[in-house]
Amino acid sequence: MYRLVYHSKPFGFDTSVLNGLLIDSRENNQKNSITGSLVCRADIYLQMLEGPEEKVLKTFNKIKADDRHLEIEVLFTDENIKTRLFPDWAMKDDPVKSWMWSQKEVAEGAVRKSTELEIMNIFKKIAAI
Ligand SMILES: Cc1cc2nc3c(=O)[nH]c(=O)nc-3n(C[C@H](O)[C@H](O)[C@H](O)COP(=O)(O)O)c2cc1C
Repeated sequence: MYRLVYHSKPFGFDTSVLNGLLIDSRENNQKNSITGSLVCRADIYLQMLEGPEEKVLKTFNKIKADDRHLEIEVLFTDENIKTRLFPDWAMKDDPVKSWMWSQKEVAEGAVRKSTELEIMNIFKKIAAI
């Protein structure tokens, strides 16, 4: 199985955009055996997609073309993962918590500077909620 984590900048972010996006994502992901989590705030999306490599890459190609966000950048990928972090979630959403990054830190590129381990630890905390 394959894991891909990227971040991006929301465009036109509000609750109805987010809810619509989550409804579509969950329906598609269920069909594609994709699970994961979407961390969201007006200034950031951080998403983990896990599942069959071909399905994850196909979905990510659609996501990249979506005009509801900008500056999409892959942070890391992992091939041959043995277990899912979000086995029961077609797409678990979570607002950015203050212990992650302030808006100022995000603006200054904190996400890009984080290590894979630091990002994985964020998702592990979300998975444990
Ligand atoms: C931040 C963000 C995250 C998204 N996550 C997913 C996702 O996990 N799965 C998915 O199928 N689509 C996701 N989308 C939506 C896709 O970009 C696209 O609109 C959708 O897959 C199209 O579905 P359709 O082919 O059924 O029309 C996301 C979009 C954004 C902006």
